[in-house]
Amino acid sequence: MTTVLLQDVRKVYGGTQADVDALGPISFGIAKGETVSVVGPSGCGKSTLLRVIAGLDSATAGTVTVAGQLVSSPIGDVGIVFQRDLLLDWRSVIDNVLLPAELRRMDLSAARTRAMQLLAELGVADFALRYPWELSGGMRQRVAIARALLCKPSMLFLDEPFSALDALTRDQMNVILQQVQIHEGVTTLLITHSIQEAVFLADRVIVMSGRPGRTLDEIVVPFARPRRLSLREAPEFAAIAGRIRIHFERTGILVG
Ligand SMILES: Nc1ncnc2c1ncn2[C@@H]1O[C@H](COP(=O)(O)OP(=O)(O)OP(=O)(O)O)[C@@H](O)[C@H]1O
Ligand SMILES: [Mg+2]
Repeated sequence: MTTVLLQDVRKVYGGTQADVDALGPISFGIAKGETVSVVGPSGCGKSTLLRVIAGLDSATAGTVTVAGQLVSSPIGDVGIVFQRDLLLDWRSVIDNVLLPAELRRMDLSAARTRAMQLLAELGVADFALRYPWELSGGMRQRVAIARALLCKPSMLFLDEPFSALDALTRDQMNVILQQVQIHEGVTTLLITHSIQEAVFLADRVIVMSGRPGRTLDEIVVPFARPRRLSLREAPEFAAIAGRIRIHFERTGILVG
């Protein structure tokens, strides 16, 4: 069942100088429970794409539907994680995670139980009473993921969530994210610059062209889950990563 469907979506930002043709036309779907990774050159419209699907920005042309409903305002059934974690430094970890429940005026004692479960699942339960500034970058992103999942959204959107992390922490976060995805059963849209990360986490990778971003290629990633990091050394994995890399080389984004 398709839960997200984009048809001929375009985004043009109006400017004082000239309009910026930011995205599309682009069309694709995301099935329920599926993880789709989107890779593409800087400035090709990936964040715009995420914002348009989430209803945080409107499409200039074309349509976006989520669960059969036309998106025309921010959708509720999604948790979003950005590159900058946007944690509030004056609130403890647990209070940061509880923020969406407060905003929605949900029962806080049930939300607290759920928050502690998520923090445990993400391996940061011991830090529930600490403050964000006491945590490492990877731990902060774990808290941001817990917050995004608190209200049990059926979708999780991530915009370069691990770009600021070192390579080892990033690997660890890939494994943790996969575990949480399996456990929560969320439909996931992952935007990333890392080809390895895109392939490791996805059922399908969409390769975008330079701005205005269109689909250059769509690749199904067939490996069973849970996946181990060592999968990245398998020839089948390398073949998929190589196919993506060729697109980047052709468009001059990657050299060598
Ligand atoms: N609010 C805005 N107003 C005007 N132009 C914008 C706005 N947001 C993005 N743009 C422009 O739209 C284009 C696509 O931007 P976007 O942030 O979606 O790219 P991106 O693929 O996410 O890039 P990156 O990989 O660097 O994060 C860029 O040229 C950008 O300057
Ligand atoms: Mg971006």
